[in-house]
Amino acid sequence: MNEIKPITKALDVTAIRAEFPILSETVYGKPLVFLDTAASAQKPNSVIQAEVGLYEGYYANIHRGVYKFSQDATEAYENTRETVRDFIGAAKTKECIFVRGATEGINLVAQTWGRQNIKAGDEIILSYLEHHSNIVPWQMLAEEKGAVIKVIPILDDGSLDMVAYKGLLNERTKMVAFAHISNSIGTETPAKEIIRLAHGAGALTLVDGCQAAPHMKIDVQDLGADFYAFSAHKAYGPTGIGVIYGKEALLDAMPPWQGGGDMISTVTFEKTTYNDLPYKFEAGTPNIAGGIAMAEALKFIARLGQDNIAAHEAEVLAYATEKLSALNSVRIIGTAPRKGAILSFVMEHAHPHDVGTILDRQGIAVRVGHHCAQPVMDRFGIPGTVRASFGVYNDKDDVDQLVAGLKKVVDIFG
Ligand code: ALA
Repeated sequence: MNEIKPITKALDVTAIRAEFPILSETVYGKPLVFLDTAASAQKPNSVIQAEVGLYEGYYANIHRGVYKFSQDATEAYENTRETVRDFIGAAKTKECIFVRGATEGINLVAQTWGRQNIKAGDEIILSYLEHHSNIVPWQMLAEEKGAVIKVIPILDDGSLDMVAYKGLLNERTKMVAFAHISNSIGTETPAKEIIRLAHGAGALTLVDGCQAAPHMKIDVQDLGADFYAFSAHKAYGPTGIGVIYGKEALLDAMPPWQGGGDMISTVTFEKTTYNDLPYKFEAGTPNIAGGIAMAEALKFIARLGQDNIAAHEAEVLAYATEKLSALNSVRIIGTAPRKGAILSFVMEHAHPHDVGTILDRQGIAVRVGHHCAQPVMDRFGIPGTVRASFGVYNDKDDVDQLVAGLKKVVDIFG
């Protein structure tokens, strides 16, 4: 059956770029060409001003003060919860737990749900595409509990081997944790199908949505995800804040994680009772400014429209793929039919770090290395790649600059 494509509107990239002060900066006297959004996106004025506005205008600790600024800051911070709920299509705001970022969110699930539910001999399925942050927390849990990690292999184009995945599922499978979009080679995984199959085997699922949430429409209920993690800083928001979504019944049944203020209901030396969701998992003074600014980042994405963003970035990616494929010395790593706006490649005669340095001198920022995803690199038998990753502010001009930069690499290294 043909997929029904949403009707999209062309984005005005010049106007979008004007919202990002840093994009007018120069590097070594050259205009900045920023191609590292997968590592961390740049910030629009609305996000920057949300932080400045709080600190200049009404800053106070939240959830604690009877005075006006504390109440105003609390209201602004808590309003973000509704923005997040709407952004990911969660049923309730209490299912949206604020954490430092996706890494902390995944650790939270591994250390609470995991410790409570995983026993010796249980199996946790990951994929070869995973970022270290969706590998190591599960390894730590498996080591503690005597559980077994199984890994979904990938095909030569970087797609998940779904046949192999089906073969890994069994009655011992308790969790399937996987990336919605690979940060290192861009593969978009068939998340809904992975989740459906996991549920069929009686397992829960955690989706690392870091590279998906900023670039496409997320609907956790439609996906059926039990847990979904993303970081604000990759979604044009501040660092130090992100979200772990969990289904209410699961979060309710999980023990708290960190102890401290805000997460309690009553405390005596004999017994502490815990707060309701979401606060049960939010100990201590949170990232107040980050939380308030995260709402602006998500509103920025929603204002442009996720389908428009996805269509725009797909066009830039297709153009970049075509242009880089035409360079003899470039080999693209990750050619799956469905990809996020991430283009990873190696060059025949130049090490990724040399490529990165030569591009940097031309004002072009890319990431080089293993991208915190060493198993993928091992799978392709390479130490690392050069990765150009695109955001909503990139266009074909940026790709042309990249190609010109790579031609300089070829001039030097052959
Ligand atoms: N996870 C980030 C990246 O892919 C840091 O670059």
